[in-house]
Amino acid sequence: MSLLSNILLVGLLSLGQSTIVQPEQIAKTVFLNDTIFVAYNSSTTKCRIDCADAETMLQQDFRSFQKVWMFNKTEMFSADDKTFIDSNRSLEFQVLNEDDTGAYQCCIRSTDLAYQSFVCYSTLLTVVDEMPGDGMNETATTEAPPSPSWNVVIEDGEILNAQPENNYFLKIFEDNVTAIHCLVNEVEINIKTSNSFTPPLYNDVLIQSFNLTDHSGIYVCNGTLQIGNETSIETVTFTVSQSWDDNKNADLLDSKVVAEALKTAFTVFSFFFISLFILLQVFRF
Ligand SMILES: *[C@@H]1O[C@H](CO)[C@@H](O)[C@H](O)[C@H]1NC(C)=O
Ligand SMILES: *[C@@H]1O[C@H](CO)[C@@H](O)[C@H](O)[C@H]1NC(C)=O
Ligand SMILES: *[C@@H]1O[C@H](CO)[C@@H](O)[C@H](O)[C@H]1NC(C)=O
Ligand SMILES: *[C@@H]1O[C@H](CO)[C@@H](O)[C@H](O)[C@H]1NC(C)=O
Ligand SMILES: *[C@@H]1O[C@H](CO)[C@@H](O)[C@H](O)[C@H]1NC(C)=O
Ligand SMILES: *[C@@H]1O[C@H](CO)[C@@H](O)[C@H](O)[C@H]1NC(C)=O
Ligand SMILES: *[C@@H]1O[C@H](CO)[C@@H](O)[C@H](O)[C@H]1NC(C)=O
Ligand SMILES: *[C@@H]1O[C@H](CO)[C@@H](O)[C@H](O)[C@H]1NC(C)=O
Ligand SMILES: *[C@@H]1O[C@H](CO)[C@@H](O)[C@H](O)[C@H]1NC(C)=O
Repeated sequence: MSLLSNILLVGLLSLGQSTIVQPEQIAKTVFLNDTIFVAYNSSTTKCRIDCADAETMLQQDFRSFQKVWMFNKTEMFSADDKTFIDSNRSLEFQVLNEDDTGAYQCCIRSTDLAYQSFVCYSTLLTVVDEMPGDGMNETATTEAPPSPSWNVVIEDGEILNAQPENNYFLKIFEDNVTAIHCLVNEVEINIKTSNSFTPPLYNDVLIQSFNLTDHSGIYVCNGTLQIGNETSIETVTFTVSQSWDDNKNADLLDSKVVAEALKTAFTVFSFFFISLFILLQVFRF
């Protein structure tokens, strides 16, 4: 689904079904860190407000909770330039201006029981014209939260529904194969395969910061399977497409774990190449 039709759909949804959260329905309000963001009309790093704290969002049933977003304690706000991501998990601003300053509240409840009360999470967003100068740096400032990362098991012939900028750690082979090599739409692309991230991250393929042009298409991946002295090649084919639909065997990952893993991976990577470079220099003389 295109971004535009998604925005339109959300616009229609929020007009159509306006469940009002009354103050007496709120069991508890949790105040999350304040956010300061610079205004933009178009930007690659968009301001995003998460519905709840990281721990709550990692809960297994979080996705199924009812989530109602409010601005400055009122239900309605213009959804024209905003996108609700992943069943209202986050709110993303396509355009951000000073009028967007205010308190964003995401109220959640389980839908298992009738008349359940809500728990609300409140984030105060301050939109500034320009980057705050000196002196303003003592105020609580948080960057936009990192893009969600997922562990996904993909079986042969399946489709990965990917959203822009999200990271996908994929397990595509049932067996422990090595030397995974993939072609995307029959051409070589720059993706990381046969990785060695620490558990729980999947290591077969990493799609980092999904981008429609770079990463969507038909993936054909070979892996080498070694049993005793026997070596064989296994092949898995799957499709990656941009979509806001859920994935079947997907788990949201803790962003701290992901940040740490990616940082370590890149350090090891550059260390390897620096060592190789030094070695080459040594052998040359
Ligand atoms: C998402 O939020 C909007 C605005 O609060 C609400 O109308 C809609 O029902 C919510 N959708 C879900 C799946 O919770
Ligand atoms: C965004 O566009 C509006 C109207 O076109 C303009 O007034 C405003 O200065 C722009 N803001 C930024 C941050 O570029
Ligand atoms: C809020 O900020 C504090 C200090 O910067 C940080 O330790 C904490 O993780 C933040 N909480 C959330 C929910 O982002
Ligand atoms: C929302 O609340 C904030 C803080 O109280 C205020 O500065 C802002 O003007 C309000 N915005 C709207 C559109 O009412
Ligand atoms: C905060 O501002 C002071 C001067 O006002 C500056 O010396 C300091 O480096 C700034 N700190 C950060 C983290 O930007
Ligand atoms: C894959 O390797 C891991 C550790 O190297 C091992 O624990 C696991 O049992 C292996 N799985 C299969 C299916 O061989
Ligand atoms: C997979 O291996 C087959 C031969 O076993 C080869 O023809 C094909 O090009 C390989 N594909 C990839 C993506 O490496
Ligand atoms: C995707 O990547 C291509 C080239 O790497 C770039 O030109 C394009 O702007 C990117 N698209 C988005 C939506 O970031
Ligand atoms: C595997 O290779 C080793 C030496 O290359 C040999 O001694 C052994 O018998 C082989 N095992 C099998 C099951 O073929």
